[in-house]
Amino acid sequence: MNIKITQTDQSRISEIDFNNLQFGRVFSDHMFEMVYRDGKWVDAEIKPYGPITFDPSMMALHYGQAIFEGMKAYYADDETINLFRPMDHHKRLNNSAKRLCMPEIDESVFIDALEKLLQLDYKWVPKTHGHALYIRPLMFASEEYIAATVSKEYHFYIITSPVAAYYKEGFNPVSLTTTNEYVRAAKGGTGEAKAAGNYGGSLLPAIKAQEEGYTQVLWLDAKEHKYVEEVGTMNIFFLMGDTVVTPELGGTVLPGITRRSVLALAKEWNLNVEERKITIEEVFESHENGELNEVFGAGTAAVISPVGLIHHNGKTITLDQEKIGPFAKKMFDAITGIQYGNQTDPHSWTHPVKVSSAVLS
Ligand code: COI
Repeated sequence: MNIKITQTDQSRISEIDFNNLQFGRVFSDHMFEMVYRDGKWVDAEIKPYGPITFDPSMMALHYGQAIFEGMKAYYADDETINLFRPMDHHKRLNNSAKRLCMPEIDESVFIDALEKLLQLDYKWVPKTHGHALYIRPLMFASEEYIAATVSKEYHFYIITSPVAAYYKEGFNPVSLTTTNEYVRAAKGGTGEAKAAGNYGGSLLPAIKAQEEGYTQVLWLDAKEHKYVEEVGTMNIFFLMGDTVVTPELGGTVLPGITRRSVLALAKEWNLNVEERKITIEEVFESHENGELNEVFGAGTAAVISPVGLIHHNGKTITLDQEKIGPFAKKMFDAITGIQYGNQTDPHSWTHPVKVSSAVLS
């Protein structure tokens, strides 16, 4: 597919304070756009980032056919930007699309759009270790029709944003609480898709958790409120003895790309790795027995975030200071080392994008 490129004549990059980046507040000069109409994707274009105009009858606004991805690009050197596992993100995007009755996108179009966008906006990729260019592909139903049915038209965008750590805590431990009042995902629902509505539904419980002084909700299963699932912004891991335990996927947990990378590295380090059901009671018992060495979350935005406290039904686990982080830190260093190209990448997780000399000049 041919991608039309219209460059901005007024870059905004000089307005950006790269020393004080937050998460997701500023957006690079260009965005990718294409439209699904009459059964095919057409009008692929990279153009200046800016507002888009739609009718209030646009179907996504009414029935929530809206999905997204979250991925990152890392500065490797002046001529190379590393995309991390873009093919895996592409697969997950298409899986989300299938669940929401939305059209899939060819891998070649997805990768071509990312590469061209990065080549144009390579200066927006932060150079500081720990910072990255967050990439947000998104798709939504754009037919103007208010019957509750499948849209015939869709828009797909890729926007990018130079970012720092997701949590204000940075690499300091976050605190989590369970809730008996709300659920994130039930079996058969959309929990394993990256559907916009999953996040919309989690906002009220997250606000309540924050009002009680916790960083985020630790979601339990919807049926029994017994099994740990995920945090909503990241997957969760427990280091019990020298076994890395994480909830199995099973349809209600987001299949995180960072999650998969953590599991692969832990196996390579000869640790026991278990993807299985894990009750919140087991987590508390493991702490009482002195076996719970570490808890941490993993996600694209969150990277690796140590957890220092878990609250559940009036009881609280506080991990000892010395138990916060050594394994999480090792995992953070290993994953970011691969992402920034400072460590060998035996799995070819990084997809280097060369900034062409034509763009550099
Ligand atoms: C990501 O980690 O990329 C996500 O999409 C999570 C989101 C809450 C920022």
